[in-house]
Amino acid sequence: MSFSLSISTVPTTQIKVHIGTSLWHQKIPIFTELFHLQKPLVYKKTSLNHMAPSFNSSSSLYDFVVRDGNGVKGLVDSGVSEVPERYIQAPRERMNEHDTRACDAPPIDLSKLNGPEHEKVVDEIARAAETLGFFQVVNHGVPLELLEDLKDAAHTFFSLPPEMKARYCSGVSPSPRVKYGTSFVPEKEKALEWKDYISMTYSSDEEALQCWPNQCKEVALEYLKLSTKMVRGIVEALIRKLGVRMDDSKMEGLLGMKMVNMNYYPACPNPELTVGVGRHSDMGAITVLLQDGIGGLYVKVDEQNDADKGEWLEIPPIPGALVINVGDTLQILSNGKYKSAEHRVRTTSTQSRVSVPVFTMPVATERIGPLAEVVEKDGLARYREVVLQDYMNNFFGNAHAGKKSLDFARIN
Ligand code: OGA
Ligand code: NI
Repeated sequence: MSFSLSISTVPTTQIKVHIGTSLWHQKIPIFTELFHLQKPLVYKKTSLNHMAPSFNSSSSLYDFVVRDGNGVKGLVDSGVSEVPERYIQAPRERMNEHDTRACDAPPIDLSKLNGPEHEKVVDEIARAAETLGFFQVVNHGVPLELLEDLKDAAHTFFSLPPEMKARYCSGVSPSPRVKYGTSFVPEKEKALEWKDYISMTYSSDEEALQCWPNQCKEVALEYLKLSTKMVRGIVEALIRKLGVRMDDSKMEGLLGMKMVNMNYYPACPNPELTVGVGRHSDMGAITVLLQDGIGGLYVKVDEQNDADKGEWLEIPPIPGALVINVGDTLQILSNGKYKSAEHRVRTTSTQSRVSVPVFTMPVATERIGPLAEVVEKDGLARYREVVLQDYMNNFFGNAHAGKKSLDFARIN
């Protein structure tokens, strides 16, 4: 069949080869190219004292925040009393916390996947993935103490002096798989996002313990492992609900790349003018997100699925719960049945928020497209087959723009 665009069509041997570190030879250029940080880092004196540095031009602000690795945290610590123009969003992107409701769906008890209520829980998961694309889970196998330790570790890392965090900037980081940065794609964005982050992509325990920051490496690694185990259970359920059987090596190809990020959203003097993260969907298969108690994560209700179209729902913090969301890869694989949710993050003026997502996605060399069995049932393919690396280049090469990322694979 000409449109057998299935991950299951990829020969097993091909998948195995890609699990190893060699795939990074391809991935490295994307990140170094994206963040033009080849220049050696010169730490500016201005960020050490607590007087507000004067940014005479937009480029000196950009250099301070992005190039020199001070981040938004450095900007706030320097004493700014209002957000610089570079952070002011266009009116249509601004967020108003008063005209949104909270999502009141109860969290799904994942421990029931192993008991007599298995089918009921699978149905709940599939239903959530088909509608909002977001849900929360409890009894997920990640110890609550670890969740607390992760939030503490994130605060500890971002409280480091800027020059210590800047050691992980692209180009100087001890590994191309570890990257500290700010906003999403600063050089492409009209308005910067009010967020700093550290991103750690897994290749081996050894590398993680050697190259990830000491302040968070152990907890981040443990969390990544337990989360990906949980993700596997969720994805198995979702794939089975599509009427598809996937063997272990195909599943490994689908979830073979794992990345844990720590996001830091400093308290912002003008939350009404900024965003923490702009409207986007995640590119991978499934994202697991730990958020703290501050709140500010919003998901857009899918217009086809709900009368309240265009409405944004807050995903409220639930102590001990993890947030799960569907990414573009699963939307493509399921030929549109599972919804990669559009979401964004608000900033607040009172407290600094942290979140810790784990992204799971296919290895870079994997070809992804709608599963053949689903295409056959649907009678048409809504997406073309793409190599994940190409999808990623497009995703990380453009500023956040809602669900536009999916256009790269969409068949019109
Ligand atoms: C992300 C994201 C949400 C949050 O990192 O992709 O959507 O609450 N984060 O930090
Ligand atoms: Ni996201």
